[in-house]
Parts: sequence; structure tokens; C-alpha cells
Amino acid sequence: MNIRLVESRWDAVECDAMVLPLFEDEDHAQGLPAELDARLGGLYSELRETEEWKGERDQVTVFYRPAGVPAARLILVGAGKRSEYDTHSIRLLIQKAVRRVKGYHLKRVAIYKRSLIEAPMAARAGVEGAVLAAYEGDDYKTLEKSKDFIEEVIFVTSEAVDRSAIEAELTRGRIVAEATNFTRQLVNQPGNAINPPILAEQARTMAEKFGLDVEILGEQELREEGMGGVLAVAKGSDEPARFIVLKHRRGPEDENPIVFVGKGVTFDSGGLSIKPSEAMEDMKCDKAGGCAVLGAMRAIGELGLERNVIGLVPVVENMVSGRAQRPGDVIRALNGKTIEVLNTDAEGRLILADALTYAQRYHPQLVVDLATLTGACVVALGHFRAGIFSNSEEACRRVSEAAERCGERLWRLPLDDDYRTLLKSPIADIKNIGGRWGGAVTAAKFLEEFVGGLPWCHLDIAGVDQYPPDFSIKGATGFGVRTLVEIASGGFLAEHG
Ligand code: BES
Ligand code: ZN
Ligand code: ZN
Repeated sequence: MNIRLVESRWDAVECDAMVLPLFEDEDHAQGLPAELDARLGGLYSELRETEEWKGERDQVTVFYRPAGVPAARLILVGAGKRSEYDTHSIRLLIQKAVRRVKGYHLKRVAIYKRSLIEAPMAARAGVEGAVLAAYEGDDYKTLEKSKDFIEEVIFVTSEAVDRSAIEAELTRGRIVAEATNFTRQLVNQPGNAINPPILAEQARTMAEKFGLDVEILGEQELREEGMGGVLAVAKGSDEPARFIVLKHRRGPEDENPIVFVGKGVTFDSGGLSIKPSEAMEDMKCDKAGGCAVLGAMRAIGELGLERNVIGLVPVVENMVSGRAQRPGDVIRALNGKTIEVLNTDAEGRLILADALTYAQRYHPQLVVDLATLTGACVVALGHFRAGIFSNSEEACRRVSEAAERCGERLWRLPLDDDYRTLLKSPIADIKNIGGRWGGAVTAAKFLEEFVGGLPWCHLDIAGVDQYPPDFSIKGATGFGVRTLVEIASGGFLAEHG
């Protein structure tokens, strides 16, 4: 997709569709609404009088071939209240507007920037919205496949702007959103299409293309390392485990890296503590954290960030068989701690335990893990914010701010030591479940045992890895890619490296 900046009035750009965001609470006697009304010969006020158009968030109306405007279509998108307009709303409204007209076989779509948000960040969010809209999770449809003909996105602004700053953000937005679509595409693949070896090979292909060093550990190496958590979960599956290591080394030699860790369960049946069928339906998505790490590493490689960043993804399939681990089994994790596995469905923490231990060999200045870890986090926060847990105020603030900047919303949950007592095992160092209440916290508390005191944030993305059930867009969101890229490019290293 080609992306271009044009400094112009909205009504002077030739394109197949011009997207115009309009607020519900703006003065319609001046500015864009007034110009629009004049251009449309009063049709805009007429539309508003019918109350068909209010400018409420996500409303979309299309004017075809309006006289006197070079755009073939004007797409009015409701931008909601002015005070609530941010980069998150820009991204989403552009995504929805572009999706709305996607079936129309358009080639050039223009986005008009309203003046409230500084141009570079608005440009980035706008392009992200357009690129995200281009992805359709219909790889498996043989009929009615979507045809994506959008070839060019034109970012239009009539303000005086710093061209190079905007162009840099347009490129960045495209790269990050394409990486997010890569993640979405991976997450959407069903369990019969992707298993640990296949996902690892896809990671290798991606790494080679985007200039990352890649190392993939197989079962033999996992045994030699002593990754008892990864191996225990993989035991029940016919597919062997893999451990993906991606390295982007473009920072100074002596700069401690940031390490990203992602849960890569290609399918979670629950194991012998088997899930009821309804809860199992979506469990191909249990690799979303790992795929987000792969997508972020791809973007970091393509952007050529001058940082040292490492991505770790333990990949397993959690299945039922005569070789599956049993509730009550005691296993030994990579750091030597013994774990009483009382519920085989609490498998994510077992593989992350080894990955977090593995991370320590790089002496990271920051570790961030992403995992579809607990149903309890979905109960707590629903589908709009992911949970963040951290052992460091500073790390938590930096990660939260990075997430906020790129429109991925987090909410901090606690890590008090009181919760640790719930994980006491009578026979081993720790058990892998903490009882019914506060399940997202006890899971995070479990992980904390394996981070070796390093500055660490855990993001439980179980509620946000897919668009909400009643949402117009379906499937994986790619949540986390933007935040990880933002963390890697942010000032954290400069201040703490
Ligand atoms: N992959 C699930 C968590 C999950 C639930 C992700 C819903 C997305 C949507 C995880 O492995 C799991 O099964 N967790 C258990 C933990 C419990 C056994 C302590 C859960 O949340 O029920
Ligand atoms: Zn599970
Ligand atoms: Zn799981």
C-alpha cells in the first residue's frame, strides 16, 4: 500500500473516497461542517435535520459523486465528542470507514486530518487504521473472498506542517500496522494449520526477511537446557515443542537489551484438566502473546531501531493423550524450582516460567511478557483493557505510557505478597493454581517467581487479543505489537541504559 502526504484543502483532492471526521458537538456554522454544507448545496444540514446523522462515534455516511468536489465519494465518519478525540479514536474510525468502503473497489482513499491532534501522531494513527482495515481474516473462504483493492492512502492536511516529521510517522504507522496484520494473520490460523514446528518455521522466514538473528530450540535442546515447564506441557501433544529466540542487535554493544516474551500455545485444550467445549472453541488464539512478540520483532527489524531487543516465544500445543502430564505431577522448571501441577489448564505460566528464566541470561534492563493467561483477567477487565502487573514502578509507568501513546489500553492490577501464599504447595516449591479468586493475580504472582528480580511487566491479554464478540470486526486484534514497538523505540533505554 502506497502512502502519501498532501497539503491541501479537503475539497481539492482527487481520490476515490475522502474520509471526513465530524464531531457531534462542533459548531456547524463554521469550519469543515460549514464548508461541507456549502459544497453539498445544503444537503449536509438537511441530513442533520433528519437526525440520520449526528456525528456520533462510528456513524458512517457516504455521499456519492458530490457535485463540485473532485473526490468520487465523501465518507462522513462520526468522531464523537471533541474532548474524547484521541489517536485511539482516529485509528478506529479510519479502520471502520475504510472497511465500510472496501467492497467498493476503491484504489485511492484520502483521510482528512482535523486540527485537534498534532499532525505526526494523527498521521501515524490514521495510516495504522487504514492498513489494519486492509486485512481480512478470510484466508479460508473460497467464496465471497474480500478483494482488497486499496492501493493508496492519502493523508490530507490543510495546516502548515513539518513534512518530514509527518512522513516519518506515515512510514512508521504503515510498518507497525503491517506487522500487526502479520500477527493477526498468525493468530487467526487454526490449530490444524499451525503447530509449534510450523509457527517456528514461519518465525524463521520472517526473521530472515527482516534482518533478525534467529535460533530455534527443538525438544533435544529443551531437554539439555532443562526446560521442564515447556516439556511438561508439550508431552501430551503429537507435535514437539519449540522455543523461538529472535535477536535484533542494532544498539551499542554494551547496552543491556529489552526482552519480550510471549505465550505461544498453538491450541489449548486444557490438557487432562480439559476445558468444556464452549471454552475450548477460541483456544487457537492462545498463541496471541507469542505472535505479538513475533510481529513486534518484525516491525523493530524493519524500522531498524538502534536498540538491542530480544524476543522469546515458547511454543507448545496443550493436548490430551496417554503421554499428557497429569494433575498432581511435579515438574522442575529451568531455574530449578519444583512445581506441583494441579491443573494442566494453567499451562501458560509453566512455559513462561522457563522463558522468563531464559531471559535472564541476557541481563535485560526490562522484561515484558504478553500472554492470554487467564479467564479471570477477562472477568476483571472485559474486552477493552489488558491487565498489567509489575514488580517495578518505573517499568510499569514506562510501559503504561508507551501503551497509552499508541492507543492500547492497560489497567494495573496488584501483585501483593498476600497472593503468593495461595500458591504454597505442601510438596513442591510452588503450585500452579491459586484457587478460585483473584486468578489473574495469582497467575502473575506465579510468573514473578521466575523473573529473578529484574524490572518486569506482565500483560494479561486474554480479553483483548480478539475483537469483542459483538464488534463489527472479527478475529485477532494483534494487541501488543504497537506497545512493544513503542517501548523499544521509547526513551526507556536512553534514561536507564
Ligand atoms: N488460555 C487460557 C486462558 C484464557 C481464557 C485465554 C479465556 C483466553 C480466554 C489459560 O491457559 C487457562 O486455561 N487458564 C485457566 C487457569 C486456571 C486453570 C487457574 C483459566 O483462566 O481458567
Ligand atoms: Zn489453559
Ligand atoms: Zn492457555
